Amino acid sequence: MKIGIIIHTQSGHTAQFARAIAAKFNSNGHEAEIEMLRTSGQVSPGSRKFTIKNNPEVEQYDAILFGGPVWAFKASPVIMSYLSQLNRIKNKKVLSFVTMMLPFAWMGGKQAIKAMDQELEASGGDVLPGEILQFVLKANPQKMEQAVQRIYEAIIKE
Ligand SMILES: Cc1cc2nc3c(=O)[nH]c(=O)nc-3n(C[C@H](O)[C@H](O)[C@H](O)COP(=O)(O)O)c2cc1C
Repeated sequence: MKIGIIIHTQSGHTAQFARAIAAKFNSNGHEAEIEMLRTSGQVSPGSRKFTIKNNPEVEQYDAILFGGPVWAFKASPVIMSYLSQLNRIKNKKVLSFVTMMLPFAWMGGKQAIKAMDQELEASGGDVLPGEILQFVLKANPQKMEQAVQRIYEAIIKE
């Protein structure tokens, strides 16, 4: 399978998670590619004063994962902006993931996944359960591995 992993990351946590996910797929004979959203302008919680400079195409992928940080108890405005204009995901498996600093998923993680999933559903994707991973400088390696495994199994399942 060809898997696209499209992320916004500022301090690199979401990128670390994405790399672990990509490694899992690639070491099992799939082809996973990470594409990072690049912006210009002011990127801050609630901001609309930025533009996304690249706009990764998703048509080429069999399944697509979307990731970003939790900011101010919500999904990153950059990933939300990207998802709001997304199309060509009809009937494709799609999955959201977020990284956050606070210890409980209800402190923004669940809300972020819900908002991302709503956009994906509106575009007709086959939305799989999202993943929330806590990072305090780094992630707990075991928790990251378990999250990667759940994502992998959800995507490859018929
Ligand atoms: C502006 C800003 C707002 C944040 N708000 C939250 C928050 O509401 N809840 C939380 O758990 N973490 C929050 N964080 C921490 C990030 O979600 C966390 O460090 C995340 O892993 C960063 O991902 P990144 O390195 O991919 O950018 C915030 C970080 C920034 C910079």
